[in-house]
Amino acid sequence: MIGPEEGGSSSHRPVMLAESMEWLDVRPGQWYVDANLGGGGHTREILARGGSVVAIDRDKGAVLAAREHLLPLYPDRLRIIHGNNRNVASLVRQEGQHVSGILFDLGWSTIQGEDPERGLSFTEEGPLDMRLDTEQKETAEDLLESLSESELERVLSEGDEPLAAPIARALVQARREGRLPRTTTALAAFVSGVYYRKGFRRSRRHPATRVFMALRIRVNREYENLEESLSGARELLSATGGRLIVLSFHSGEDRIVKRCFRLWVGEGEAAFLFRRSLVPGDEEVSLNPRARSARMRGVVFGTSR
Ligand SMILES: C[S@@+](CC[C@H](N)C(=O)[O-])C[C@H]1O[C@@H](n2cnc3c(N)ncnc32)[C@H](O)[C@@H]1O
Repeated sequence: MIGPEEGGSSSHRPVMLAESMEWLDVRPGQWYVDANLGGGGHTREILARGGSVVAIDRDKGAVLAAREHLLPLYPDRLRIIHGNNRNVASLVRQEGQHVSGILFDLGWSTIQGEDPERGLSFTEEGPLDMRLDTEQKETAEDLLESLSESELERVLSEGDEPLAAPIARALVQARREGRLPRTTTALAAFVSGVYYRKGFRRSRRHPATRVFMALRIRVNREYENLEESLSGARELLSATGGRLIVLSFHSGEDRIVKRCFRLWVGEGEAAFLFRRSLVPGDEEVSLNPRARSARMRGVVFGTSR
């Protein structure tokens, strides 16, 4: 793991690091985009291999940490941008670099998950916030306060929550009665209650896992962003014949990536680097349980394969 003294985060382990570097084909002297800087794990590795990086994150904290720890080590080969990667094409163009590859490592980092104030996890009490960019206005609590029952049900269904309808109904009823859950732990207990009343007594994962994921996806508009980000990446890479590698962490994200890649390959614009998605090995999963759900997909644009 990369320590802060080496310019990285102390608590986020980069997922599928060796595989992503290999398929990104990192070469000295070439520029790459790390569209999800996070704790800087992948960026740090590209730099260590001699590549140069334009790194983007919508979380100001991640950007400031990298500017403090990583930028002084690589002032000529690193650009760090606070922004949404759905604007990847314009953000990278402003930097004036031709990029040979783009990496997306979707979702949220352990650093964000471990901060109770972000409200991303229910292991500790925190506000129902869930914003990755704290300059954005709408929080998860705002959604629970304002969405109709059918809108809530749709949000939960899009996160593959099997009890989307009864949970949405129970939340709207609780809102009417002035007892809407206001913290992460209260929401987790509320969802467990719905599961219990529906006869579910035991499950492998906490019943609130998918509800939290679904709300986070909606708060941060993750599906809409991903569509736009991938099309921005295509715009940049079809000009350079570069490679695009995406690490996704749940089926909703992976479906979007798979659909886009198939379309581009069908149109003759890109070729698959590997036909089926790659997953982390057992050793990585045992060291880093967060890697368990990772899937990697990759394409190369043009004919430079
Ligand atoms: C899984 S972490 C990246 C971890 C990083 N690769 C590492 O190894 O340290 C995902 C990061 O992407 C950021 N992020 C999520 N959606 C984003 C978006 N649309 N634009 C820019 N950054 C985003 C999150 O704030 C988070 O820091």
